[in-house]
Amino acid sequence: MMYTELSPKQLQSMLWWSQPDTKNYDAIVCDGSVRSGKTMSMTVGFVLWSMKNFNNENFVFCGKTIDSLKRNVITPMQKWLEGVVKIKVNLSRNFIDISLNGHSNRYYFFGGKDESSYQLIQSITLAGILLDEVALMPKSFVEQALARCSVNGSKLWFNCNPDSSEHWFFREWVDENSEKTKNKNRLHLHFTMDDNFSLSDEVKQRYERMYSGVFYDRYILGLWVLAEGLVYGTAFRKERHIVENYTPSDNAVYYVSVDYGTLNPCSMGLWAVEKDRAVRIKEYYYDGRRKSVQKTDEEYYSALEKLVDGFNIKNVIVDPSAASFITTIKKHGKFSVRKARNDVLNGIRTIMNLLDNDRLFFCANCKDTIREFALYRWDEKSGKDAVIKENDHAMDDLRYFCYTVLRRIFMNEEG
Ligand SMILES: Nc1ncnc2c1ncn2[C@@H]1O[C@H](COP(=O)(O)OP(=O)(O)O)[C@@H](O)[C@H]1O
Ligand SMILES: [Mg+2]
Repeated sequence: MMYTELSPKQLQSMLWWSQPDTKNYDAIVCDGSVRSGKTMSMTVGFVLWSMKNFNNENFVFCGKTIDSLKRNVITPMQKWLEGVVKIKVNLSRNFIDISLNGHSNRYYFFGGKDESSYQLIQSITLAGILLDEVALMPKSFVEQALARCSVNGSKLWFNCNPDSSEHWFFREWVDENSEKTKNKNRLHLHFTMDDNFSLSDEVKQRYERMYSGVFYDRYILGLWVLAEGLVYGTAFRKERHIVENYTPSDNAVYYVSVDYGTLNPCSMGLWAVEKDRAVRIKEYYYDGRRKSVQKTDEEYYSALEKLVDGFNIKNVIVDPSAASFITTIKKHGKFSVRKARNDVLNGIRTIMNLLDNDRLFFCANCKDTIREFALYRWDEKSGKDAVIKENDHAMDDLRYFCYTVLRRIFMNEEG
């Protein structure tokens, strides 16, 4: 491929093993912003290092899953190293053979989240391992993998985007102030998007607009920060996101989103999706515990019909675990039901993006959504990114809708 000039940091992460002041490190840790070139420069460096120093040894490329590894590392690597080394691809068998100047080595692919990788990794001896996006892998898997690197001169190559400051990888490999990190003979390089000279200002700004709140701090600034306080913090603002006197245009497409509960509250929202934004027009919210009366699925179904009276609904997006209510809606044969995609963290990231880019609005009568925005919190004690499961019912139906429907329309994300 054509490289834009490599930045000093990219060069260092590629060639540290050959430089007098850094070659005695056993490991390298590159963290920081997305798109800064961590994966590219480390992958090239890893191959050059291993081919120069070893022959007939085994190495490992590891990603979150084998599929994401192939997509982000193995396939692009063939362009990055074109004309430099000879790569014999064996994608279906999950390894490649690389040769250079009479040396040949084998590189296995592993996925830290793939069950099948667990047993396999216990049975090989390695001269080096590259863990791409290591913060997304379970600690137990990473430890297994590191224990396999027993060949003399072996080195460990890690990269990741930042996560919580409570994350095990931060505490053990990144944080300069932790004892565990101090005991490790590792080189730490911190990247930002400015370390990738191939990114135009326009592209950098596009990425900056994609994230806000804790996600901005992590993915753009490259900082390890705890998700704390209100989930939507200042991302949701009444004066900005509440609309008065909204009348849908003729082209609006209508949806309903549902978070189902019998003991817990049940929340439904009616949405109008316009060309450039979505508006929550009205909502239904019922708290069976507070009212001491639980409602049946048929009663909820009547509430749904009443909520959408007069509107032509494209889809009803429902809590995927609400099997009985989904059956009830289907039985009536009136609405097209879709199970929501439930991914809490990516859903929250999506909502932040939509709020930040003026895609998401609420009519003032959506009182329970507005109330929950002011109460919905991160669970700071959980040790990972987790929300407190309270005041999260309108927040959940909102999240189902944004992640299942709006993400595709306004963020051009697939899947
Ligand atoms: N020096 C460079 N020249 C050309 N393209 C580059 C260079 N550095 C990075 N890139 C490209 O920039 C994008 C982001 O790089 P990547 O290594 O995936 O970043 P990260 O792993 O930090 O998210 C990729 O498409 C990569 O090919
Ligand atoms: Mg990467």
